[in-house]
Amino acid sequence: MRINDLGELSGDLLLFGGVYSNLHSLDALIEYAGQAGIPPENAICTGDIVAYCADAAGSVERIRNWGCPVLMGNCEAQLAADAPDCGCGYDEGSQCSLLSRGWYSHARRTVSAEAKEWMRRLPDRIIFFHNGLRYAVVHGGASDISKFIWPTTPKVVFKNEISVLEAEVGAMDRVISGHSGIAFQVNVNGVTWINVGAIGMPDNSGRPETSYVEISGKNIKNKVLTYDINAQFEAMRRAGLTQGYHETLTSGYWPSEDTLPPDMRRS
Ligand SMILES: [Fe+2]
Repeated sequence: MRINDLGELSGDLLLFGGVYSNLHSLDALIEYAGQAGIPPENAICTGDIVAYCADAAGSVERIRNWGCPVLMGNCEAQLAADAPDCGCGYDEGSQCSLLSRGWYSHARRTVSAEAKEWMRRLPDRIIFFHNGLRYAVVHGGASDISKFIWPTTPKVVFKNEISVLEAEVGAMDRVISGHSGIAFQVNVNGVTWINVGAIGMPDNSGRPETSYVEISGKNIKNKVLTYDINAQFEAMRRAGLTQGYHETLTSGYWPSEDTLPPDMRRS
């Protein structure tokens, strides 16, 4: 268990994740941070720099050059281990399984051995204080890096995840997470669980723009990221990544709802 303790942070925070190899959205986020006067040490990435889109190696390089704290996502863990798939735990033969064969093999092929070694050293948890609140950052869940947690997930599941996390890092006021690709907040016994969503792919609501979170004081702001969608669409087309996620960039809907619980599916 690698824990990165950032100590006390001051000023506004940017919390983001799910870059998913979308270099155009990452560039837009970094540009916004500059305009807002938020330094990279106050921008925390919840992992999955690499996934569905065209610029796996370029996205890793850009985020490393920017220098923000990065948590290990399952995509980084799997690439670092040179595993054959993304480790989401989907059923063999499911649509997610078929779709991942396209983007995962592209990422595995294009990300350098040196970058995979950098991924291997990423922390499993990030902790910090900010404006009197203690924060802990996980990727999917505390019990499982690839655990899908949704706003409709039963409270007992959140309580269990928070208990696991508290045993590792001590009590916290807020949990920051990613992985599932949909931003939400849930309050459980005085702890606020914040999923920051994803900047690299829309959230299946039909809106092409993507999501991140900004924290100002103690206020949690759900933010919408606008970026050059057409440029990333073309980059995916040129790379042959046309299994379905390229159309998600413009439609705002996922090509597969396999990972979603039934009460959050469109049909
Ligand atoms: Fe993930």
